Amino acid sequence: MSGPVGVGVVGAGVISDTYLENLRSFPDVNVIIVGDLIEERAKSQAEKHGVPSWGSVADVLGHADVQVVVNLTIPAAHIEVSSAAIAAGKHVWSEKPLGLDRAGVAQLLNDAAARGLRVGSAPDTILGPGFQTAKRAIQEGLIGEPMFATTTFQTIGPDLWHPSPQFLFAEGAGPLLDMGPYYISGLVSLFGSVDRVGALGRKKAEERVIQSGPNAGTTFPVEVPSSLQLLTSFDSGQQASSLLSFDSALERHGVFEVHGTRGSLIVPDPNQFEGRSAYVTARTSLSDGDWGEQKWIELEQRGTVVGRGLGLLDMVRAISADRPHVATGELGYHVLDVMLSAQESAASGEFVTVSSSLTAPVPSVPVDFDPFARTL
Ligand SMILES: NC(=O)c1ccc[n+]([C@@H]2O[C@H](COP(=O)([O-])OP(=O)(O)OC[C@H]3O[C@@H](n4cnc5c(N)ncnc54)[C@H](O)[C@@H]3O)[C@@H](O)[C@H]2O)c1
Repeated sequence: MSGPVGVGVVGAGVISDTYLENLRSFPDVNVIIVGDLIEERAKSQAEKHGVPSWGSVADVLGHADVQVVVNLTIPAAHIEVSSAAIAAGKHVWSEKPLGLDRAGVAQLLNDAAARGLRVGSAPDTILGPGFQTAKRAIQEGLIGEPMFATTTFQTIGPDLWHPSPQFLFAEGAGPLLDMGPYYISGLVSLFGSVDRVGALGRKKAEERVIQSGPNAGTTFPVEVPSSLQLLTSFDSGQQASSLLSFDSALERHGVFEVHGTRGSLIVPDPNQFEGRSAYVTARTSLSDGDWGEQKWIELEQRGTVVGRGLGLLDMVRAISADRPHVATGELGYHVLDVMLSAQESAASGEFVTVSSSLTAPVPSVPVDFDPFARTL
């Protein structure tokens, strides 16, 4: 690739604003066209963000200048759209989850590999300076040998704010497949491949009601558990426990703690690109029996903050440099495999062995990675 990479966006819904804003700010990327099943949506997003053309999915896939397709459709359409893009000879960056079933994603990755095309998968928050600062600290041994992690995502649910939240409570979503990718990608990025997972799941109600937007008041079914608790073990011997809930009156999310042999580290919210990293070291003695507050030591976040689209930018630069990118299809497949295994465990009551594993550790992002530099 030489010169800015031609990008076509498919899916002009809620998240497309953030993507279009960020992608349009990267000198290495040239957003050429936006497409959607509902072409009016594509038109309005293209006009809003100064993208020169808009149209159907076929218009995006058939555009000669589009080298990478960014798939921002709903999860149930991810495989169909990504596979069509690969068949059209385009690299793909997909929103999460990469797909809803193992076979579909495996086929997608095989087809892409056979054609020498890359697949990248959200979340790309793990490339953000917040997460990378914490990852660097762990790799440098700040808290000793990491032993286990705890993560928490509990909210009252996206039916409170999303104008069309049905897909978020349908097969292929729920807190596990919708929010799990952030937490599990973070854990895998730190600890490597998951070996086994066990989970318990339940629902607050069989039906819920849209709370905002033009369809407020509409009832829709809850197809999947809306609260789950996961226990995960990694090939490395490390372990994690994770709560994922759309049913909690208490709002607490973005909790991600790693506990090591010498200290405990707060990792920033894995659904954000920046945030606080801080650690405490283990008490070694009690002075005068003092159980007072532990002293937090703050880490300075290093790196340039942007948002969604960072993973795609890393992927296009990696293609050009012939190096691996960070948020790969392989990572997306493994994270999906872990989530589906957790779903199976919640249904069966048994721990499930995860069959996939990563062929290499998830790479780190250099501190001097500058999204606003022209490098291509
Ligand atoms: N909304 C968020 O805050 C958010 C945050 C991070 C990631 N995501 C992810 O982004 C993706 C999109 O979420 P959203 O909230 O923007 O959804 P949305 O429902 O607002 O938008 C999806 C768009 O895709 C279009 N679409 C659906 N099927 C299609 C198909 N087969 N071909 C072409 N277009 C199709 C729809 O017409 C719609 O315009 C999901 O995978 C979601 O998990 C969303």
